[in-house]
Amino acid sequence: HSHIPVIAIDGPTASGKGTVAHKVADRLGFHYLDSGALYRLTALMALRRATPLSDEHGLAKLAEHLPASFSGGEILLANEHVTQLIRAEEVGNMASKIAALPAVRQALFALQLGFRRAPGLVADGRDMGTVIFPHAQLKVFLTASTEARAQRRYKQLIDKGFSANIEDLLSDLKARDDRDTCRAIAPLMPAEGAHLLDTSNMTADEAVEEVLKWYAHAK
Ligand code: CDP
Ligand code: CDP
Repeated sequence: HSHIPVIAIDGPTASGKGTVAHKVADRLGFHYLDSGALYRLTALMALRRATPLSDEHGLAKLAEHLPASFSGGEILLANEHVTQLIRAEEVGNMASKIAALPAVRQALFALQLGFRRAPGLVADGRDMGTVIFPHAQLKVFLTASTEARAQRRYKQLIDKGFSANIEDLLSDLKARDDRDTCRAIAPLMPAEGAHLLDTSNMTADEAVEEVLKWYAHAK
């Protein structure tokens, strides 16, 4: 598969990875991997089954046999549509906790590689450029100020019909940033050779154009 191009887009929560990666994939006609969704799906199953964080083996089993499917922008767990449900803050927080467990990351490794299919893949997450696709043709690290990210998340949650409060979002976001950057395994950091893009004062579409420009040069 190594000849199939990959664009790896990493960054902290609400930096715009998902939005930008999705649009870039559409523009290029590439497949799209939302790696965070895999952690969120595993987290949702764990919450429902009340599997504790201390049961690393049990959590890794859930990840390994994840009955996930992605079709036309919809995310399914077995036959249930969970696209909206997995965006809840509770699920995101649990996802970031189980994501620190090596056995869980290992269990999701092969599943992620399988998304690399012709004509190409745009993958977003925390370790796309550092661990999963270290030979990606293009690596991008998106950032934005904490305030900009909290505002984006707030708007997104309200638009989706969830209730939200800026203060809580800010503190959740900081806690999540800390967990993601300080963990021992696959911590969030720019990959070697990654292009950094601060989108605090950019629209998603402007960020997309920037990424496409870099990709045209990287090919
Ligand atoms: O995937 P990630 O958590 O990094 O972010 P997202 O789910 O793509 O959400 C970012 C939100 O901010 C979306 O509602 C975007 O429309 C908006 N946004 C953006 O993605 N990029 C910008 N430069 C500005 C706003
Ligand atoms: O949309 P947002 O950036 O808030 O989160 P996400 O990308 O859906 O990921 C949810 C959680 O999964 C993150 O807080 C990370 O801890 C974890 N994750 C990870 O560890 N590695 C990835 N490649 C993707 C997500």
